[in-house]
Amino acid sequence: MNSLFEVLKKENLTTLKLRYNFRSNQFNALAAKEWEADADFSKYNKAFTVGSIQTDSGRHLNTSEVEAMFETHGVTSHYRKIQDLIRQGKHFGIDFLFHNKLNIRFVCGIHSNIRGLNNKSHATYAGATRRHGLDKAELDVIIDALNLSRAMTFKNIAVDIPFGGCKTTIQMGDLDIDNMEMMGFLAYACDTTRCLTGPDMSFPKTMVKVMNENFTMQYVGGPGSALGDTAIPTAYGAYLALKQAVKSQTGSESLDGMSVAVQGLGAVGYNMASYLASEKTTLYVTDLSEERVQQFIKEHPSCEVIAVSLDEILDVEADIFAPCAMGGILGDEEIAKIKFKYVFGAANNQLRATNQTEEIRLAKLLAERGILFQTEWWHNAAGVLAASEEYTHGFNQTIDDLMKKVEAILPTQTWKNLTKAKELGITPTECAYQSSQDLVYGEI
Ligand code: NAI
Repeated sequence: MNSLFEVLKKENLTTLKLRYNFRSNQFNALAAKEWEADADFSKYNKAFTVGSIQTDSGRHLNTSEVEAMFETHGVTSHYRKIQDLIRQGKHFGIDFLFHNKLNIRFVCGIHSNIRGLNNKSHATYAGATRRHGLDKAELDVIIDALNLSRAMTFKNIAVDIPFGGCKTTIQMGDLDIDNMEMMGFLAYACDTTRCLTGPDMSFPKTMVKVMNENFTMQYVGGPGSALGDTAIPTAYGAYLALKQAVKSQTGSESLDGMSVAVQGLGAVGYNMASYLASEKTTLYVTDLSEERVQQFIKEHPSCEVIAVSLDEILDVEADIFAPCAMGGILGDEEIAKIKFKYVFGAANNQLRATNQTEEIRLAKLLAERGILFQTEWWHNAAGVLAASEEYTHGFNQTIDDLMKKVEAILPTQTWKNLTKAKELGITPTECAYQSSQDLVYGEI
């Protein structure tokens, strides 16, 4: 069996916390039954709150009891793989929360809390919440949470916000924002993990309003909220950063005459492609949704837009590749064959790596092929900046103020990083890590 959630289910448990201290190489685990199978989460923050004791038949297992339980259920090798990933990525841990009745498998990857301590907020961590279908392998969902949470730690540093890095990946069926039990559970889980969050891939932005009106203020970035959808500043920041990358090679930040392959026309990709279309570019676009592609073409009549299939996008002979959908798209094989001069997009975790060493190795391969790449967390951070601004200042902050901050921070940071990397003779990815890693892994 390759599922920790199946163990929780068989043992009638609700919660599993894995913790790792990279300084001492120490692992701890805790498993618990914290609520009854028929608990009504639609009453969250009304009949009970975070911290309430929800059952009289609670159960808690310590590290050796958890490991013995995993052994009994034959998941030890799966657990060891997860431990290896946690160790290699120097993660703080993972929280697993299980809603048996609705089969919601909530995974919160927590990379580092250092920057979120003593920040005067409920949230210690910032990182969005993404949905995966129930058909996906549990390990892939966990890897996604871990990779994204590590990126969040560094992204939060890139825009200097006082939160550690986390990312929530929830395996469940379709979200029903009218199902208060479902929404209440997701709110409770978010609050217990102390995340500042918002909807990421496969969750609708409309969920934010339901969360805020009924359960929790830890969700931001909804259509009616103070600063709106975080995808817009994200796309703008990535676009401005790309222009600096081009300037570092051509001396001009103009994209006129350049061609760009855009992978994904979702919330971020559509906006990024629209910014790109505002210059005299040729765009190659692809998305799972043909409707989205056609809508983009229709709404940008003055730009040359060529639709290509999902499989073709990496083979396109364009100047720039802007990944704006899923992560893990560039490994050894893809890097060896792509013909772009720049890889600069807004998607998270573009390189197929689960730790910093591997990410830097792949970044070097790109550099060897003459492709300019900078780890994306350095330039796709305007979304979390927006989230943090909204969380901290609410309606006292305007979108104009936010966009001015994006203009001040993202392109400047990218220019500095690209220039410094050139001076030091290292890749921009190594350079970004060198500038930030002591804040995460250094002496405390
Ligand atoms: P989204 O769910 O709105 O859009 C993703 C789009 O990618 C969808 O249109 C989907 O159909 C498409 N897609 C899925 N698989 C694809 C494939 N194989 N090939 C081409 N297209 C495919 O998500 P969103 O918010 O636009 O996020 C996109 C990326 O940007 C993700 O990696 C996300 O983590 C990252 N990101 C998002 C931020 C935000 O504020 N929304 C902030 C920073 C990063």
